[in-house]
Amino acid sequence: MTNLEKIDKKYVLNTYARNYVNFVKGENATLFSDEDKDYIDFTSGIGVVSVGHGNKQVSEAICNQVGNITHISNLYAIEPQAKLAEKIAQLSGYDMAMFFGNSGAEANEGAIKIARKYGETKSDNKRYKVITLEHSFHGRTITTVKATGQKAMHTDHFSPYPDGFSYDKKIEDIYNSIDDQTVAVMIELVQGEGGVQPFDKSEIQKLANYLKENDILLIVDEVQTGAYRTGEFLASNLYDIEPDIITMAKGIGGGVPIGVVMTKHKDILVPGDHGSTFGGNYLSTIASLEVCNILDDLKNSGKLDETIIYFETKLKEFYNKNTNIFESMVGLGLMRGLRVKSADILSDIISRSFDNGVLVLKAGKNTLRFLPSLTISKDEIDEGFRRLNKGILEIS
Ligand SMILES: Cc1ncc(COP(=O)(O)O)c(C=O)c1O
Repeated sequence: MTNLEKIDKKYVLNTYARNYVNFVKGENATLFSDEDKDYIDFTSGIGVVSVGHGNKQVSEAICNQVGNITHISNLYAIEPQAKLAEKIAQLSGYDMAMFFGNSGAEANEGAIKIARKYGETKSDNKRYKVITLEHSFHGRTITTVKATGQKAMHTDHFSPYPDGFSYDKKIEDIYNSIDDQTVAVMIELVQGEGGVQPFDKSEIQKLANYLKENDILLIVDEVQTGAYRTGEFLASNLYDIEPDIITMAKGIGGGVPIGVVMTKHKDILVPGDHGSTFGGNYLSTIASLEVCNILDDLKNSGKLDETIIYFETKLKEFYNKNTNIFESMVGLGLMRGLRVKSADILSDIISRSFDNGVLVLKAGKNTLRFLPSLTISKDEIDEGFRRLNKGILEIS
């Protein structure tokens, strides 16, 4: 056992089944261990390091900021926070205002609070119920665990959970679940943890229209799909809908903890309703602003679309070569998955891939998941798939 493993096991709570590799350096989509072994990273830290590891522009922006002011509190205006809010609103194309927290779960908590206050103040009866989907994932706080539709997450260990959540299997079931206490429907447009499952565009547009006509809020959880992951700034842009509330985290910070809840209902929250000590401080917002600038340029130059096409081509080649193992390709943009025929070998694929120097993820029970940095190079993509093939050959 390495010293790192020893102290980690002794002093860090045991909430993750960890691999004890010690990464000490990162360059774009490549990581290096303390044993000088390199790994192609097809995970970007579960969709976080959108602009790559060790990004010089982000690093410079952060260093300049922390050499001056890191944090002052939200009792004073914070220039990079205001500028980031303006940038996100511009990139999204939605006339929305936002609140900054530190994670996806915190952003979703904010979304639920906005929806509940909307339901309380804008209707005659108190509407508070939120409908979500069975294969959804919305976070790990007590409320977002309850918002998450996966039954396995609602263990008795943490009960009682807050009331007001119900779950549907499919989008088409939502219509019949709405009652006079329903205030919102909360969905991911591509279910990430649930298995990289995108929904049909027309089905989502029909739902969005129905909800608007019936004054029920549409909350879109873009914690994983946001920040160009699906090819557009938001998956909501790709689906051509206008949600009431959108949440983001992960890739918008490029590795710095940040969560965003944005809404067109700008008058619902007033001073005292919500807050976060760290949320939106100088450090996270200057980093996120730089990430947004980099990704905006990447999109406008056509490079992002090129990378998405290249990655998809290579993934298809890999899939076609291994149809004995995989049964389908799923996902959008640089949020991709391969469904395995037998869930039993998924962990083996991931560990063989790791041994051959490529990091990949699991989603749901039977999906091999790819969430590379949006800046990944063609060479890194080629090398990653070469290593994946090598790992697969050892299994089949
Ligand atoms: C769609 C979605 N929502 C919420 C979360 C929770 O985000 P965080 O872990 O930053 O709290 C995740 C994390 O995987 C996610 O994928």
